[in-house]
Amino acid sequence: MNPDKSDISKKNIKWHEISIDRRKLEKMHGHKGMVLWFTGLSGSGKSTLANALNEALHLRGISTYVLDGDNIRHGLCKDLGFSDSDREENIRRIGEVANLFMNAGIVAITAFVSPFKVDRDKVRSIIGNNDFVEIYCAANLSVCEKRDTKGLYKKARLGEIKEFTGISSPYEIPENPEITIDTGNIGLKDSVQEIINYLDKRFDIEK
Ligand code: ADX
Repeated sequence: MNPDKSDISKKNIKWHEISIDRRKLEKMHGHKGMVLWFTGLSGSGKSTLANALNEALHLRGISTYVLDGDNIRHGLCKDLGFSDSDREENIRRIGEVANLFMNAGIVAITAFVSPFKVDRDKVRSIIGNNDFVEIYCAANLSVCEKRDTKGLYKKARLGEIKEFTGISSPYEIPENPEITIDTGNIGLKDSVQEIINYLDKRFDIEK
């Protein structure tokens, strides 16, 4: 999708067309660029699944790149916390970065809690429905809290972490995600296969 140029025009900033464009870059990679957007509670398996899917696609010769919440918060978004407005800005930035990767002909795989529907939908509109796959990791709160892989739920219950998703900050379950993975019950291999099956059916990303 082309950026919305309407507001920008008032700021004396002009859009430059780049001659080596998305179509040429996609041709070079041998497949289209797209965004695979994982969402779910902390500990629902987003990062693990994103990483395993990344490996599987990489083995098939597909150009991928993973943008992961905890990692991105070490750099690009290290100025942001977990208030509603900081999360909104976090997801806005990642949506824009994912769009750049897609325009470079790459399959961008993102793993962010992205708890608010309105923010996920804004990303969907930046990317466009044809290139956006929302993947809901559906492990519920009790499963995630029992796992508590990072010990954060315990801290949140003790009040040591404020605004923790699922405990003291909401998570809005996606209404119409392209894919829902029951990460509370299904193993990693089967989860990856489910996503690959979907991608094979919908897109031509075979190399
Ligand atoms: S998002 O809500 O803005 O999408 P993001 O995915 O970047 O969140 O970061 C979530 C990760 O930060 C969690 O996996 C967890 O490890 C850590 N974290 C630290 N504090 C919080 C909090 N208050 N709520 C949720 N996650 C938190």
